[in-house]
Amino acid sequence: MDLDIVILAAGKGTRMKSDLPKVMHQFLKKPFLQMVLETAKELKPNRIIPVIGYKSEIIREHFKELDLEFVEQKEQLGTGHAVQQAISKINSKLTMILYGDVPCINKDDLINLYRKSEKTQLALITFKKSNPKGFGRIVRDNNQKIAKIVEEKDSNDAEKEINEINTGIMCVETALLKNLLSSVTNDNAQKEYYLTDIIKLAVDAKINVDNIEAKNEYTIQGVNSIEELVQLERDVMNEKAKKLLEEGVKISDCSRIDIRGELVCEENVSIDIGCIFEGKVTLKKGSVIGPYNIIKDTNIGSGTELLAFNHVDNSIIGNDCRVGPYSRIRPQTQLNNKINIGNFVELKNVKVGEETKVNHLSYVGDSIIGKNVNVGAGTITCNYDGANKHQTIIEDGVFIGSDSQLIAPITIKKGSTIGAGSTITQDTIEGKLTLSRVNQITVDSWERPKKK
Ligand code: UD1
Ligand code: CA
Repeated sequence: MDLDIVILAAGKGTRMKSDLPKVMHQFLKKPFLQMVLETAKELKPNRIIPVIGYKSEIIREHFKELDLEFVEQKEQLGTGHAVQQAISKINSKLTMILYGDVPCINKDDLINLYRKSEKTQLALITFKKSNPKGFGRIVRDNNQKIAKIVEEKDSNDAEKEINEINTGIMCVETALLKNLLSSVTNDNAQKEYYLTDIIKLAVDAKINVDNIEAKNEYTIQGVNSIEELVQLERDVMNEKAKKLLEEGVKISDCSRIDIRGELVCEENVSIDIGCIFEGKVTLKKGSVIGPYNIIKDTNIGSGTELLAFNHVDNSIIGNDCRVGPYSRIRPQTQLNNKINIGNFVELKNVKVGEETKVNHLSYVGDSIIGKNVNVGAGTITCNYDGANKHQTIIEDGVFIGSDSQLIAPITIKKGSTIGAGSTITQDTIEGKLTLSRVNQITVDSWERPKKK
């Protein structure tokens, strides 16, 4: 697109009650500005120019890897003044203005806005809001053509009744924008240079101003306080949940699910209450997610069931597995099919073979476990010597008795058995029983101490 995008992000965001610049607050795990930048990038503009001011060094530092042309607005004298700071950098045919504090702006709406402004020289995104308070209002003439925008603080009673609002997002022919901005004054209630004043200036110059309507309210919602932030996050997550529900995912309660990243579900999936999904999570056909699971960047195989209260991070879980309740599956874990992981089991960087069971109270880290293995309750792989991590290999068909410690590096050979309560320091022999225990004795003379 022959387009430059200016993103207004100089404000402090006083009502956020925080030292952090407003646009650096996290919206579903990403700074607002990053969300806007990602959407802006999708339009493939010639350049993206964020206008920054308050604590600009934090913003520059955070986004230094991206190809952005920051400009500084030292004093925040209004949205018109903010765009003015970028004027020497813009020279594409059209200029789009986005707000850094409107994180959910929709790409398709922006494309429609661009197309509209190709025809009319100046186009806005508007929205009919049931409660328009606080927003600039779109004032139309007798022919229903846009005449001007009036800010809430400058509006009269009749104008306050208008429910068509300015979202702030507009696209303007660059030459026209430069021309109109030079005439904007700060003669208004807030003593600010309003970008919105260019609308009336354009109309006076007989330029046809047109609009498109945003499809969804949340996409044009600005964030001014933590309260608004939390509400908008909830709206966005609700939207995602409702969409999955419509696709046939059985979500027990759309208001009690947090989809903070991307959740992809195949058919016949069900998700109980209180689950949090982060990053990219895929739930294959027929998988069942019990209550209160936290799942991040993970694939869950078909027919697999997660019971309540598991924490799963950056892992691949195969088909027909049963996990939890209360397990912790840490990054780089790969479970094959038909595996049982039980309560209070921690796995980290482990590959587990088919039909293996780790059912109770174990820690298994940096390991490869074969198929048909039974890891008894309380088994610990001692993978860390205080300086380095070492690997444990447990081959197919092994049985590890309860409360055993396997001191890595070590290999438990195929089909071998470890007696309960053993500390194993050397590789075992295939098919044999290995144990390490002191022989049991009875002390005849011993008596329990008595209270004096
Ligand atoms: C603005 C619009 C209003 C619209 C509303 C939508 C104007 C005059 N008014 O009002 O019509 O309904 O947005 O949310 O444009 N900013 C700067 N520098 C400044 C002032 C603002 O970078 O000097 C940035 C802010 O950081 C923010 C954005 O511009 O990202 C909007 O500023 P804000 O003060 O919130 O504008 P509103 O009064 O809400
Ligand atoms: Ca605002």
